[in-house]
Amino acid sequence: MYKIKYIGDPILRRKTTDVELFDKKFAAFLEEMTEIMYREDGIGLAAPQIGISKSVVIVDVAELVEGESLRIFVNPKIKEASGSSVVEEGCLSIPGVREEVTRPEVIELSFQDESGASFTHEFDGWLARVLQHEIDHLNGILFVDHISPIKRQVLINKKVIPEKY
Ligand code: CO
Repeated sequence: MYKIKYIGDPILRRKTTDVELFDKKFAAFLEEMTEIMYREDGIGLAAPQIGISKSVVIVDVAELVEGESLRIFVNPKIKEASGSSVVEEGCLSIPGVREEVTRPEVIELSFQDESGASFTHEFDGWLARVLQHEIDHLNGILFVDHISPIKRQVLINKKVIPEKY
């Protein structure tokens, strides 16, 4: 049984390793990960958030973008990024915190699907935003790392995030 890991848990700071085996066990893991994301009402989830230090991200922005559904990204790598946008973000691992984060607007991403097939696609809008947030998780980065030190200190003082995380 996997459980959501919260800010302060060292696994959220660890860099993940690539998935190499696209076997039945991996398929079962993806199924469970997807179940957890929907149960927690998330629009994205990265494997370290449920305690697994592997390069896996799932995204479903259907509530924000018409026609969207579940997307699975294995071993995603951002190849290029351009533009800039400011969007308020939240994170299942940092409950109760929402802050504006500036990120590139368009990304070119290479990734594999659940069967191991390789793709390179360009993403913009909500998908680019959520993907960058989730891929940060694979590198041990949390969205509160992107806000100003003053805003971060306010969150620490309010005890909504720990001083060291
Ligand atoms: Co997150």
